[in-house]
Amino acid sequence: MAATTIAKLAKMKAEGDKITSLTAYDASFAKLFAQCGVDFMLVGDSLGNTILGASSTLPVTTENVAYHTQAVRNGAPEAFVIADMPFMSYATPEQACLEAAKLMRAGANMVKLEGGDWLLETIHKLVERSVPVCAHLGLMPQSVNVLGGYKVQGKDASAADNTVRQALALQEAGAQMLVLECVPSSLAKRITEKLSIPTIGIGAGPKCDGQILVMHDMIGLNSEYLPKFVKDFLAEAGNLTAAVELYVQQVKDGSFPGPEHSFKG
Ligand code: KIV
Ligand code: NA
Repeated sequence: MAATTIAKLAKMKAEGDKITSLTAYDASFAKLFAQCGVDFMLVGDSLGNTILGASSTLPVTTENVAYHTQAVRNGAPEAFVIADMPFMSYATPEQACLEAAKLMRAGANMVKLEGGDWLLETIHKLVERSVPVCAHLGLMPQSVNVLGGYKVQGKDASAADNTVRQALALQEAGAQMLVLECVPSSLAKRITEKLSIPTIGIGAGPKCDGQILVMHDMIGLNSEYLPKFVKDFLAEAGNLTAAVELYVQQVKDGSFPGPEHSFKG
């Protein structure tokens, strides 16, 4: 399979071809996901939860993400790999550039940052210095202590309008992809129609250009509470390869996420 590029992902949006993605943290799973045709992988700072067992993503460092990015790159040399910039690793544009360099050297093709208006200058600087950027709006887990929990975002009309405005500003600043986490399906649809860059949803309904899940969630390894948007594909498919193939197939044909995995406005 040919290497995935940003240009290919943009073309998939233009042609209405759904983009599939999963988080990955090691070489073995990265290899499996690549073989199953997952379009890109995210080395998420969710590794704080899935790998470290912490209750949030806040303990994660750039070095942690770089280590796992190297592992994913080794397992899937041709894959498009996005690496999360951890909490407080992009507090200033200058710091963001230096920290992003560690992730790019580890093998990332793009970095992901959580935030809206305050990130515009940082995104502009990263892109200017040849670091492609994926933005992240809606529920931003690095802000859990401000939000007071993991809740659906953008529910009322003014919050929704504000999210649409910020999504456009992030695109204008140079972001080439946007993750939307835990927002009503109607808001994700609005943003997806307005933007020219691909939107990737998690708990954001079926109208995004693509979907992402934390890999542990889609194979039933989430021990505590299961968010509404999660589906255990392993339980349905019976083995690991079949589970990943089923996920890819159901995202591609639009049957996942269904209404039971989505939030109303
Ligand atoms: O860290 C992560 O896994 C993420 C996804 C949930 C989008 O940011
Ligand atoms: Na993340």
